[in-house]
Amino acid sequence: MKWWQNAVIYQVYPRSFQDSNGDGIGDIPGIISRLDYLKYLGVDAIWLSPVYDSPNDDNGYDISDYQAIHPDFGTMEDMDRLIDEAAERGIRIVMDLVVNHTSDEHQWFVESRKSKTNEYRDFYIWRDPVDGGPPNDMEAAFGGSAWEYDEETEQYYLHLFSKKQPDLNWENENVRQSVYDMMNYWLDKGIGGFRMDVIDLIGKLPDEKITSNGPKLHDYLQELHEATLKGRDVMTVGETWGVTPEAAKLYSDPERHELSMVFQFEHIQLDEKSNQSKWDIKEIDFVEWKEVLTKWQIELKDNGWNSLFWNNHDLPRVVSRYGNDSEYRVESAKLFAILLHLMKGTPYIFQGEEIGMTNRTIESIDEVDDIESINMYNERLDEGYTHEELIHVINVKGRDNARTPMQWDDSDQAGFTTGTPWLPVQPNYKEINVEASRDSSDSIFNTYRQLIQLRKHNPLVVWGDYELLLPDHPSVYAYKRSYKGKTWLIVANVSGKVEHLVSNITNSVGDVIVSNYDKESFDPKQSVLQPYEAIVVELLD
Ligand code: NOJ
Repeated sequence: MKWWQNAVIYQVYPRSFQDSNGDGIGDIPGIISRLDYLKYLGVDAIWLSPVYDSPNDDNGYDISDYQAIHPDFGTMEDMDRLIDEAAERGIRIVMDLVVNHTSDEHQWFVESRKSKTNEYRDFYIWRDPVDGGPPNDMEAAFGGSAWEYDEETEQYYLHLFSKKQPDLNWENENVRQSVYDMMNYWLDKGIGGFRMDVIDLIGKLPDEKITSNGPKLHDYLQELHEATLKGRDVMTVGETWGVTPEAAKLYSDPERHELSMVFQFEHIQLDEKSNQSKWDIKEIDFVEWKEVLTKWQIELKDNGWNSLFWNNHDLPRVVSRYGNDSEYRVESAKLFAILLHLMKGTPYIFQGEEIGMTNRTIESIDEVDDIESINMYNERLDEGYTHEELIHVINVKGRDNARTPMQWDDSDQAGFTTGTPWLPVQPNYKEINVEASRDSSDSIFNTYRQLIQLRKHNPLVVWGDYELLLPDHPSVYAYKRSYKGKTWLIVANVSGKVEHLVSNITNSVGDVIVSNYDKESFDPKQSVLQPYEAIVVELLD
């Protein structure tokens, strides 16, 4: 068994986690000061969103120096101390590896744009204009053309995200070697692995308008493995938006020596109208949602590994998006925790999820920080969408939802900073905060804590087979996990209404293992499920 197979990973978005020097921006000493909290929660590793030097066009996902720490976050000594102090508490640090692109302020790009003959020219993807315009009609994820004209050398460079995030040319062996050298620098420091940003894009063939899953993608990953990961006890998780279960097996089959696992987003994208963008939302079909989650559980059960998540720094808060963040906030937050943490794979918790933090509501675009939402708003306003429509969808799906400061206590600025936070603290911090949650036995926090311990102490949670029950039920998600003659039943009423459940599960029932309504017994043949009730029980013969 690998350490990450029964691990739970906690994502820290450093700008918003804990400020230690009053500048309103979270930092590495701040994270260090909260390690005891994370140890108490019980997590095994921290996925640390980028802390590298960056002009922050995309909040650190535009890196100008992979081997320097942004002064806002601290120093390399702070970073080394974080790795050591986390290790003392049994926590590993998983760094964010953003190598599909760099910042345009990275030295490689500064050189590359100087002349067509510069030794770094070919580190990026440059093309001549076609008919006086861009080489083709590829679009950037953050709006507009994916090609930016550079007057200096009269060519276009490719950027699949913002124009300050030029794409690296992975076909160039020197690019690959430079990336591997940088990865080894970090691995030699003793980090626990990498989360690999949009890694499925590195094999792109822009002339053929192929972005994800390019033909050489898996060759590159095998080469990367050989040059960096081989023989090291680390984990890797690739961010792969367009992945299918077949492709996920290519990445995560241990025999192929690529990655430990990937993030797949199929369940997240079920609220998008087909072939449109994340902003074109539709109602989620609950039955389809269960089907998709089940498909991934089944498909990756043998030669692959799943990552399990509802949230990250790009996604709205689970309790607001899928649950009920007012009347049933506590119940629904626990329900989603139970549903996810009883599945097979490695669960990820995004900071604040463990206390049921909620989405942020804004009224004006001036309140938005995120480049993706701002660009979308301006572009769509020109196309004729109304201000109300656009603000609504930003409130539902915008990335700032996840990025508001961590709510530690009910003091000024929720204990996040003594200064003015870079993004406002949510007004609900007086009720929703770590201090209020940590010591109360029936809190969301303690449900997460309990679920982490269940995984640690029950091989069934790590290895058990998964079977979906009641697939067509319009509001109940029920599944079984079975391992070595033991079976657990997980039942969740994903609705705000009381549900009278009748099922053909005739087994006798053992102990209640987890319940978000404090139930002491449960009869699956016939039961009444309260709004957002979730329960885990042992099934006997
Ligand atoms: C995915 C990251 O999670 C997101 O925050 C970032 O904007 C893009 N990749 C580009 O790096």
